[in-house]
Amino acid sequence: MTSETASITVHASQFPENVQRGLREGLRARRIAPKYLYESRQQARKWLALHEAFSPSRTDPEASAIYDRSFAAAAGVMGQNAARLIGLGCGGGQKEARLLGLLAQKVNELSYTPCDGSLALLLASVREAQTAAPGAPCHPLLCDLGAAEDWAEVFDQLDPRMAQRLYTFFGMIPNFEPDDALRRLAALLRPGDLLLLSANLAPGPDYAAGVRRVFPGYDNRETRDWLMAFVTDLGIEPDDGAVEFSIEEAAGLRRIAADFRFLRNRSLMVDGERFDFGRGELLRLFFSYRYTPERAGRLLRAWQVEVLDQWITPSEEEGVFLCRKSAG
Ligand SMILES: C[S@@+](CC[C@H](N)C(=O)[O-])C[C@H]1O[C@@H](n2cnc3c(N)ncnc32)[C@H](O)[C@@H]1O
Repeated sequence: MTSETASITVHASQFPENVQRGLREGLRARRIAPKYLYESRQQARKWLALHEAFSPSRTDPEASAIYDRSFAAAAGVMGQNAARLIGLGCGGGQKEARLLGLLAQKVNELSYTPCDGSLALLLASVREAQTAAPGAPCHPLLCDLGAAEDWAEVFDQLDPRMAQRLYTFFGMIPNFEPDDALRRLAALLRPGDLLLLSANLAPGPDYAAGVRRVFPGYDNRETRDWLMAFVTDLGIEPDDGAVEFSIEEAAGLRRIAADFRFLRNRSLMVDGERFDFGRGELLRLFFSYRYTPERAGRLLRAWQVEVLDQWITPSEEEGVFLCRKSAG
C-alpha cells in the first residue's frame, strides 16, 4: 500500500450478490440491516456530517477525553513487541487513528486492520491511519460483521503473525442485537487480547427518563436527512411517507428506533423482485440500544467478558469499556 493506492480485502459477505440478497431480505421483512445506511458516498457523507453535529465524541470535549484516557490505559496494558489493532466497524477511523498514534510510540511491530461494511468509510479510515502511524502495515477489510461467522479465521489470514490483539468496537453495540454482538466478540478474544468498546448511555438514575432525555439527538433534521438518503436511493419518493422516531423495549433494554411510514401505496422493483408497501405500513430503518454502565457490564459478564476499567462522561451519555476474556 502506498499513499496513492490502497489494497482492500473484500469478504464474501460484501460481494454484490450477497449485499443485494440482504437488501431484498430486509425489504421482505420490512427491517433493514444497519450496514445499508452507510453504503453510498452520499450516505457516508451525510453520516459523517451527522456524527460531527451530534456524536458526543465530536461535540463534547469530555467524551473525547474519556476516549483518550481509555487509549492510554489500553496502550499501557499492551506489550512492547508486537501488537495488532483491529477496528471493528471503524467508520471513518478517527478514534482508531488516535489510538494507533499512541501505540506507534510504544510497540515495535504494529499493524492495523480497519474493518467496515462501507467502502467509502473504510477508505477514509485508511487515510487517517496513514497520517497517524505512517509506517504501520494496514490490512483493511470490507466485511459484513453481522453476516460473517468466520471473523477469527479472516483476521488470521490477513496477518498471520502472532501478536497481541486490541479490538475496538466503538459505537457499534447499540446497533446490534446485544447477544449477537457479544457472542461474536467473545469468540474472538484470546487470552491476552483486549477489547475497547463504547456505548451510548442513558443518563441519570431513571433509565426510561434517561432514554427520553437523549431522544432529540435522534429526532432531528440531520438524522432524517441521513436516513432519507437510503429511502430515496431505493426509489421511494420523499413525499411517499415520513421518518418516525420512537422508544421501544427489546432484549430487556430500551432503544430508539426509526421507521419510514408510508403515507400512500408504493411499489418498488429491486433486482427484478417487486415490493408492495401499503399506506400506513412501516419499514424499520434504524435502532440504537441505550445502555447504562451496569447494563453493559451485566451483558459483558454474561458472555465471560471482564471489564478491566471504564470511563463515563460527566453527562453520563457515553461510556468506554476496556475488556478482556474472563480467566475462568
Ligand atoms: C455508528 S457508526 C460507528 C463508527 C465508528 N466506530 C465511530 O465510533 O465513529 C457504525 C459503523 O458501523 C458500520 N457497520 C454497520 N453495520 C455493519 C456491519 N454489519 N458490518 C460492518 N460494518 C457495519 C457502518 O458502516 C459504520 O461505519
